[in-house]
Amino acid sequence: MNIKFVRENAVNYLGEASISNCIDKNTELLKDIFSEKVSDTDNVLGWFDVTKWTSPELVSKMERKAKEIQEKADVFVLIGVGGSNNGARSLIKAFAKTKVEVVYGGTNLSSNATCELLDKLKGKSVYINVIAKNFETLEPGLSFRILRRFLREQYGEDYAERVIVTGTAGSQLNKIAEDNGYMFLPFPDDIGGRFSVLSPVGLFPIAAAGIELEPIIAGAREMEKSLKETPFQENDAVIYAVIRHLLEGKGFAMEFLSSFEPALEFFSKWWVQLYAESEGKNNTGLYPVACSFSEDLHSVGQYIQSGKRILFETFLHVEKVGRNYVVLPDEIMDDGFNYLNGVEVKAINDSAFYATVKAHSNGGVPSNTINIPELTPYYFGQLFYFFQFSCYISGMLNGINPFDQPGVEAYKVEMFRSLGKN
Ligand code: PA5
Repeated sequence: MNIKFVRENAVNYLGEASISNCIDKNTELLKDIFSEKVSDTDNVLGWFDVTKWTSPELVSKMERKAKEIQEKADVFVLIGVGGSNNGARSLIKAFAKTKVEVVYGGTNLSSNATCELLDKLKGKSVYINVIAKNFETLEPGLSFRILRRFLREQYGEDYAERVIVTGTAGSQLNKIAEDNGYMFLPFPDDIGGRFSVLSPVGLFPIAAAGIELEPIIAGAREMEKSLKETPFQENDAVIYAVIRHLLEGKGFAMEFLSSFEPALEFFSKWWVQLYAESEGKNNTGLYPVACSFSEDLHSVGQYIQSGKRILFETFLHVEKVGRNYVVLPDEIMDDGFNYLNGVEVKAINDSAFYATVKAHSNGGVPSNTINIPELTPYYFGQLFYFFQFSCYISGMLNGINPFDQPGVEAYKVEMFRSLGKN
């Protein structure tokens, strides 16, 4: 069984024919995308074939070190920012259950946060994994420097076995790893950060958090196979991209990724980065927003229902939960909630979901739903591949390059100048 894209609601808004016509009109472009003819000259499609960066040798190398971390560490620090941590963090936040606590370094430049992190690590058995494609990014560079010193002070020369470096082959970071005896993992030169979760960038920290890699890779491969074999007119990734494209053409400016499972919160953050950095170019692109319901129904829910009509929603709906709770009667008092007696919490959550789709749709908000059979790493693998593939198509339909991010350089130029960097 695969995740399933349900388009009914958005189709009611756009009309089936406009989706089908848009696919027909872009058939040549889609053929080029599917045959990797577009963008391959930029060396950015290393993620397109899942097997490329998930070879059994690489996976077992990562799993061996991860096993050591699971046996010896109290805390594992993932140092990286943007595409260098979002993918791993989304899965770790949803599924990590072992005694090794995973914390994040290099996500900000806050002095308070830095000191708190060091306080937390004192007296603990610590391993770190620094991840950077371009080892000039300030946040991970600074955090790595501070944590290296911390480890050296704690463990003397033996500290090196506690450092894992994920960087581009031949880079400065690669040299540092070699010179200092750190384990080195490849950051694929043909994959940009936000497309890198299904490579050592995402997979090593996930393994270090005690999560098995095989199901994630299997889920992604299954999705890859399904998308590559399904004709354009029935292809969920194509249809999702086309619906987004058409809605943007009709003046919609924002897409909300809404889910009713808190375990998907960091997945939504990964999705926000994927789409915002890939598509926000040339004054185009939908602004991606993550919503965690039902909590956010009590805040932005008001805006979605009755604010400016510039947004649409994509719901992530989990069909089967691992653990279910049935509401028991309260024999002591009447609290006004007796209508819930004997009802499963899953059914209550589903009822909120269906009611929200209906109410928002009645309020003029088109929506799609992605049905996820179960909340497992396997389906995360499917979701990662599905959205990467669809984001690639969607960017190409908008006529932009989804794989670069020139806009994030502007503030860096100013910042580096003021810090005196040559
Ligand atoms: O998706 C991207 O390319 C970016 O978000 C990068 O991942 C992010 O800027 C971090 O870059 P680096 O790994 O070079 O430190």
